Amino acid sequence: MNIVVLAGGISTERSVSIVSGTEVCKALRARGERAILLDVYCGKENAEPAQIFSERYDIEAEAAYIHSFDDKIDDMIASGKEFFGPNVLKLCKAADVVFLALHGADGENGKVQAAFDLFGIRYTGTGYLSSALAMDKALSKDLLEAAGVPAPRGTQLIRGTDTSEELRKIALPVVVKPCCGGSSVGVSIVREQKELEQALAEAFRYEENVIVEEYVEGREFSVGVIDGEALPVIEIAPVEGFYDYKNKYSQGATVETCPAELTPEQTQRMQHYAEKGARALGITGYARLDFLMKENGDMYCLEANTLPGMTPTSLLPQEAAAMGMDFGQLCMRLIEVSR
Ligand SMILES: Nc1ncnc2c1ncn2[C@@H]1O[C@H](COP(=O)(O)OP(=O)(O)O)[C@@H](O)[C@H]1O
Ligand SMILES: [Mg+2]
Repeated sequence: MNIVVLAGGISTERSVSIVSGTEVCKALRARGERAILLDVYCGKENAEPAQIFSERYDIEAEAAYIHSFDDKIDDMIASGKEFFGPNVLKLCKAADVVFLALHGADGENGKVQAAFDLFGIRYTGTGYLSSALAMDKALSKDLLEAAGVPAPRGTQLIRGTDTSEELRKIALPVVVKPCCGGSSVGVSIVREQKELEQALAEAFRYEENVIVEEYVEGREFSVGVIDGEALPVIEIAPVEGFYDYKNKYSQGATVETCPAELTPEQTQRMQHYAEKGARALGITGYARLDFLMKENGDMYCLEANTLPGMTPTSLLPQEAAAMGMDFGQLCMRLIEVSR
C-alpha cells in the first residue's frame, strides 16, 4: 500500500507527533508498505506521488527535514499560512490510506478528519464528530454520564463571565483545566482556596472555556479500545506528583504496569466502561480512554484520546504488546479497522 504517515502540525504536541510518525513509518516500511512521513503543516516541496512512494526511503532524513521547520512555525503561523502544507493534499489523495500520527488540537479535534472526508481521503482513527466530542471535556462528560460511565463531577466556566456563584458551590480539592486542552497543559490541582484564582487564570490563558471538577484521589489507568474491543488495562503511576506534562514525557518519570494489578472484576469493569465510553462518544477505529480509581474501587472516566501516542513505548502500544501484538502488527491493525 502507498501510505502517508501524517505528523507534526502546530499543536503543543508537534514534537511527540513527529516521534510517533517516524516510528509508525519505520514499522510500516519494515512490513513492506510504501509509507512516507509528511508534516501536515510544512508539507514537502517538489513532491511527485509517482516518485515519492518508492521502495527506497530515508525516514531519518525526512524526520530531520520536518524538524528543520520547528523554529519557523511561529513565524509561519503569524504570516497567515494556510493549515495544509505544500503538496499535502496531493500526496494524501494519492495514498491508499493516511495514517494519522497527529496529536493535540488541529489533528485530533476532527477538523482534519472532516476535510479529508470531503476530499475522499481515507484515514486511520475515528471520524470528525467523535473527534470533536472527545476533544471537548465538558461535552464528553455529559455523554459519558448519560451512557452510565461515571465521570468526575464538574462545572464549566467561561472567561469574562461572573463565576463567583458557581465557585462558591465547589468544594475543594478540585482540578482546574482547559476544556479542550491536552498533555496536561494548563491543568492544576487546587487544594486551598487561595490557589484557585491563580489556577483559573492559568487555565484561561489557553482557552475561554475551563472545567473545574472534583479531585479524584486514587490510582490512574488507561484502556485502549480497538474496533469496539478493550485492550488490557495499563496503570500509570508518576514517581512524583500527578500525571502532568513533565511526567508524561520524561523518561522514567512514571511507572507503567500492563496488565495493571487489579482484580479480575475491576479489570472487566474498567474495560466495560472503556468500550461503553467509546460507544457513547461515537468512536470508531480506535481510541484510548483514561480512568481514575479511588481506594474504594469507584472508577471515573477522565477523557477519551482519539489519536493517542504511537511510539513503541506509548501506552496503547504497551497494551497491544501485553496481548501479544507487536508495534508493526498494531499499526497494520489500526489501518485495517479504519473506514
Ligand atoms: N478530576 C481529577 N482528579 C484527579 N486528577 C485529575 C483529575 N483530572 C485530571 N487529573 C490529572 O491531570 C491529568 C491531565 O488531565 P486530563 O483531564 O487527562 O487532561 P489532558 O487532556 O491534558 O490529558 C490526568 O492524567 C490526571 O493525572
Ligand atoms: Mg489525559
